[in-house]
Amino acid sequence: MVCLGNICRSPLAEGIMKQKIGEAGLQWEVDSAGTGHWHAGQLPDPRSIVTARQHGIDLTDQRARQFQVADFEQFDKIFVMDIQNRRDVQRLARTDEHRAKVELILDQIHPGQDHSVPDPYYDDNGFEAVFLMLDQACGAFVSTR
Ligand code: 4NP
Repeated sequence: MVCLGNICRSPLAEGIMKQKIGEAGLQWEVDSAGTGHWHAGQLPDPRSIVTARQHGIDLTDQRARQFQVADFEQFDKIFVMDIQNRRDVQRLARTDEHRAKVELILDQIHPGQDHSVPDPYYDDNGFEAVFLMLDQACGAFVSTR
């Protein structure tokens, strides 16, 4: 799960996906990262922590890190939150196989429509809506496995 800062959207996506795969009895590794390095080592944004907690998900074991090229090898699927993230991550890909792992997470519910998860960093009221769209998208992905 990749966004810009790895403190707002992708920590929510990580927490939600982990909850869903736990419920489904799947054994997947899920992690998140940011294309930027500015928040590396930090806890998720308090607004993401509170929003997730209201839905029974704990994000406080997460720490931000920057996406790295090795992630293309480590993970089978790389979900990005928005179009800029997709551009930034695909630019780091060294092979077509790696590039093909990168997908907008909202493609799970709006295939081929290039929908982005809005960045809620400057919008205190945006976190619940982000949670709900990620919940839908993660649910759709897990249900197809
Ligand atoms: P995120 O949100 O990419 O969803 O983690 C942001 C977090 C921090 C900043 C921008 C977006 N920032 O500019 O510091």
